This record gives sequence, structure tokens and C-alpha cells, in this order.
Amino acid sequence: MAAACSDAELVGLALAARGNAYAPYSRYRVGAALLTTGGRVFTGCNVENGSYGLTVCAERVAVFAAVAGGERGFAALAVAADREGYCRPCGACLQVLSEFAPSLRLLLADVRGDFEVKTVAELLPGAFRFPRGEGE
Ligand code: THU
Repeated sequence: MAAACSDAELVGLALAARGNAYAPYSRYRVGAALLTTGGRVFTGCNVENGSYGLTVCAERVAVFAAVAGGERGFAALAVAADREGYCRPCGACLQVLSEFAPSLRLLLADVRGDFEVKTVAELLPGAFRFPRGEGE
């Protein structure tokens, strides 16, 4: 199905999703917008926690919301932070994205909405895949 929104629009949604970020510790607000192959968009923001290690990145919030919403086919993910430079997903998020879409297009945006395009496989070559046995 044709994409329901352009790359620039998806980046705009990621920038807007930063507004819901809960980031009192790092003060680094991140937004993500995930476009499904069917044209739906799921957004996410980082949600920090006082125990630090329980913090969840914006990208994983978006992909988990999408999967919980019944979607597993993804066309593009936009990520935007509130500082200079393109925001790249961390290794944990790349691993989660790789589970569903190793060739997913990533639109990595800066605070002005300029972005670079990478794929999950480019940023995480050789991602882990659970070995499935014969007949599974
Ligand atoms: N963070 C994200 O949400 N996505 C990224 O791609 C990198 C980091 C968040 C986690 C934490 O709340 C803050 O940014 C600082 O690491």
C-alpha cells in the first residue's frame, strides 16, 4: 500500500512527539514516528525513570505501541531529538527494530527537521536472530 505520509511529514510527527517526552533526568527529549506498510503511524517518546536503567527510548515505545496495535509491517521510522545533530537509535532499539524490519528506512532528524536516511541493517549489521529449528 502507498505510504500515507511523506518522509518530511513523518519527521514532523517525530518532532511533535518529543512534546510528550518524560525526560527529567537527561533533559534530552526524543520523539519517534513509525509508519506501517498499511499507512498507519504510531508515535513514541522517551520515558525515563528514577532508577535510570528502566528508561525506555522513544523508538521502542513506538514499535511496541505498533505491535500492540496489531501491526508488524513497517515502512519507515523517523527519530528526532531536541539538540543539534541527527539522532541515531541506540543498539537496543536497533535490535528490536531488526526483529521486525531489518531493512527499515530510518529518518534521523535534527532539531530543525533536516534528516539523513539510513537502514537498520546499515547501523546494526549482523543483528542477533533467534535460531529456529527444523519444522518450526
Ligand atoms: N534516547 C532515546 O529515546 N532514543 C535514542 O535514540 C537515544 C536515547 C533517550 C533515552 C534517554 O531518555 C535519553 O535519550 C538520554 O539517553
